[in-house]
Amino acid sequence: MRRDPLAYLTAELASLKAQGLYRQLRILEDEQKPRTTVDHRDVVNLSSNNYLGLTTHPRLRERALEATRRFGVGTGSVRTIAGTMAIHMELERRLAEFKQTEAVVVFQSGFAANAGTVSAILTKEDVVISDELNHASIIDGCRLSRATIKVFPHKDVDAARKIVKELPASQRKLLITDGVFSMDGDLGALPALCDLAEETGCIMMVDDAHASGVFGKNGRGTVDHFQMHGRVDIQVGTLSKAIGALGGYVAGNRNLIEFLYHRARPFLFSTSHPPSVVMACMAALDVLEQEPEIIERLWDNTRFFKEGLHRLGFNTGLSESPITPVIAGEGAKAMLLSDKLFERGVFAQGIAFPTVARDKARVRTIVTATHTREDLQYALDAFAAVGREIGLI
Ligand SMILES: Cc1ncc(COP(=O)(O)O)c(C=O)c1O
Repeated sequence: MRRDPLAYLTAELASLKAQGLYRQLRILEDEQKPRTTVDHRDVVNLSSNNYLGLTTHPRLRERALEATRRFGVGTGSVRTIAGTMAIHMELERRLAEFKQTEAVVVFQSGFAANAGTVSAILTKEDVVISDELNHASIIDGCRLSRATIKVFPHKDVDAARKIVKELPASQRKLLITDGVFSMDGDLGALPALCDLAEETGCIMMVDDAHASGVFGKNGRGTVDHFQMHGRVDIQVGTLSKAIGALGGYVAGNRNLIEFLYHRARPFLFSTSHPPSVVMACMAALDVLEQEPEIIERLWDNTRFFKEGLHRLGFNTGLSESPITPVIAGEGAKAMLLSDKLFERGVFAQGIAFPTVARDKARVRTIVTATHTREDLQYALDAFAAVGREIGLI
């Protein structure tokens, strides 16, 4: 019999189990909603990125169904061969208007947008100056580009400046930050980084995956929130989180977008969005423009929940967004917190190394616009009970 060449993975998995880091996938048995069913249990769901509840919004659902009836379920091609429908172009035009940039290119995911863009615009002669907590898709894009990667401590713009100043002025440099950091919920140091980029001629890029639909007027993102329009060369957004569907996009000037049409590998070599997704995204833009009160509800809920956790005495780090980590310490403790919350009907996923530092494992909570106060109070009561039981508060 053939020897299994993947047998070494058994030891890797055993090691995860020994560290208390082995996870079964949680299975959602209903829609992605604030109260739903996961692994046969009714739960208050604090684990999705469905900030505005758009995954189940009637307007998105209806437009997706209409699009499927009219255009079918798939496009059958990559964008550059036969997979660009008029509705793809319309979505890009709508997104550019929304972001107030010259142009936009849509990718299959936010991950593809980041990795595809960074790897397309840089070569091994170039340098990336990157916040240490930037998303994995940025890191992978940097690696694929083969540029030199210089990492600065989280939000430490002085350290970033020092790195930039030590590099030859003639060398091409990309300064890059998340708009909202996905595990801590704090905002990137965008205004100071824009100053640095202008001072030193760096390309300025922000990944606004968790800011799209959440920060700025009608959810335009952190560039709008900080009034940095015209000062950020490349803005990445996602259609997979607050927008409720799937995809990512890059907003910038016409040259950048034309270049990405020619050189971004996920754009060139992976099939385009199905019509249902494209039309659902357009319906989401309508909702952001016509029902901005939905974003207000998200922020009201965010304030209520964060204040509740603070009052109970949890360590929630430096979050400034609807993402609120509850920091537990080592990985096993975070997983215990998550499991015990689940037993009480609260779904808040545990996150440990290597996603976050070894001693900063946490349960990450995300409230949405569609949670009721009763849902959030129910969750706070569960946090209080479990936090006391396991000695966190
Ligand atoms: C900061 C950040 N950037 C990019 C992404 C990738 O977005 P998507 O889920 O659309 O691929 C994520 C999502 O996990 C994220 O948190």
